[in-house]
Amino acid sequence: MQLKALKAPGASHRTDAFVVFRTKGGARKLAAVPDAALRKAGEAALKSSEFGGGAGETLLLHGGSNGRRLVLAGCGDSKKPSGDDLRAAAASAARAASGDNIKRVTYLSPGGAAEAGLVAEGVGLALYSFDAMKSGKAKKVAACEVAPESGKSEGVAAAVKRANAIVAGACLTRDLGNLPGNVANAAYLAKRARELAGGGVTVKVHDRAGINRLKMGAFAAVALGSANEPRFIEMKYRGAKKSAPTIALVGKGVTFDTGGISLKPGAKMEDMKFDMCGGGTVIGTMHAIKALKLKVNVDAYVPATDNMPAATAYRPGDIVTARNKKTIEVINTDAEGRLLLCDALAYAAEKKPSCLIDLATLTGACVVALGDVASGLFSNDDKLRSDLEAAGKAVGEMAWPLPLHETFTKMMRGTYADLKNSGGRWGGACTAAAFLEQFVADCTWAHIDIAGVAWTEKDKGYHRVGATGYGVRLLVEFLSRRAES
Ligand code: BES
Ligand code: MN
Ligand code: ZN
Repeated sequence: MQLKALKAPGASHRTDAFVVFRTKGGARKLAAVPDAALRKAGEAALKSSEFGGGAGETLLLHGGSNGRRLVLAGCGDSKKPSGDDLRAAAASAARAASGDNIKRVTYLSPGGAAEAGLVAEGVGLALYSFDAMKSGKAKKVAACEVAPESGKSEGVAAAVKRANAIVAGACLTRDLGNLPGNVANAAYLAKRARELAGGGVTVKVHDRAGINRLKMGAFAAVALGSANEPRFIEMKYRGAKKSAPTIALVGKGVTFDTGGISLKPGAKMEDMKFDMCGGGTVIGTMHAIKALKLKVNVDAYVPATDNMPAATAYRPGDIVTARNKKTIEVINTDAEGRLLLCDALAYAAEKKPSCLIDLATLTGACVVALGDVASGLFSNDDKLRSDLEAAGKAVGEMAWPLPLHETFTKMMRGTYADLKNSGGRWGGACTAAAFLEQFVADCTWAHIDIAGVAWTEKDKGYHRVGATGYGVRLLVEFLSRRAES
């Protein structure tokens, strides 16, 4: 959903609903609502206790000329709502103003350009729906526009444009995540990545033979059980001058994780279609930074395959050799993500990027630790860790630091090989990170475990059930802060 920026709407403005945002105890005047009857009704509601301004609260009022309506949207207790409060309030308003007869909605955002951008993000993310696999015509959502309530429209158009690009990236990530394993297999992800070529993006894809040629023995082992051919997707975006540092992104692309021979239990196994969300986030981020023409250079890698049990599948006990020559004893074929990532990280590290960041739905242990509140953030560099943490905080995608420590590294030592792929249950998110660290050479590196945040079981704020697109906003913010001015 793309939103339009608008200057102050006049009395005859054609729309089906105006939306105004109020905090608890906020201003009771609605001078910017250009419809006299709605203004009066809204001000009466604000004066009475019918509308209190609480977070998530909305009130839909009728009676404007030409059937126009007014939606009051609550932003909560705080005098200065956070960015995420405003996104969530905009999402609630978008839902309240989504009746069959509402084709066009005019959001009067509080504050200035930044708030207009936040409203556009909240609305755009909330109005996403995944209809691609349903028969029948998808419901057409309303056309939306944002105008600052204050009338100070400076910078609003740019902020809304930026929000649109970020929303489009996150919704691409959501689509890729929501598509099932029988559709969004490795070749499909590669096809969607290829569609981004042009405008500074180049894409190169390696098939099974190519992965073997690249000596990615760990990744290749996971793909042995898959009838769908694996793909190693390489994308480059060049938005800065040649001499600018390159940032490398790696995303886990397990298009379906059955656990392999170490088969998962059946309950909730269908959710393992989301096991490519790290890869999806990387592709969605490339889409966004291309649209934003961000002045950065980014190399992105998505190792993609499904993890299946089969006569050809890899087994517990197998010993595989990764691209950096380290040998790995397979304890559990369900610890497959790290086997894809280790080869992709080793490959990315060879190109000496200024920093290397991977995202992965890597461990159930991370979900136990942080739930759906934050991703787990590991880094061998204090500045990179705090920059990612700050970027996440700024955009409402929390990333919480977890430890890298040699005790965890020791837990990953193999009996019959250099390493093993599972350190057991305890400290599972940390042992997984310690494993990955063995493959980044001397790179400045961070690992973001998104297992708990990549999808949601029900609609929540500006998220819809299914893939959230987590990480696109965080990475776009991080990359923007590192862009050439
Ligand atoms: N994709 C899973 C991790 C996962 C589980 C993500 C649940 C989201 C929700 C990963 O491949 C996996 O199976 N990890 C194992 C590792 C273990 C065998 C060492 C896990 O976390 O149980
Ligand atoms: Mn697994
Ligand atoms: Zn997995």
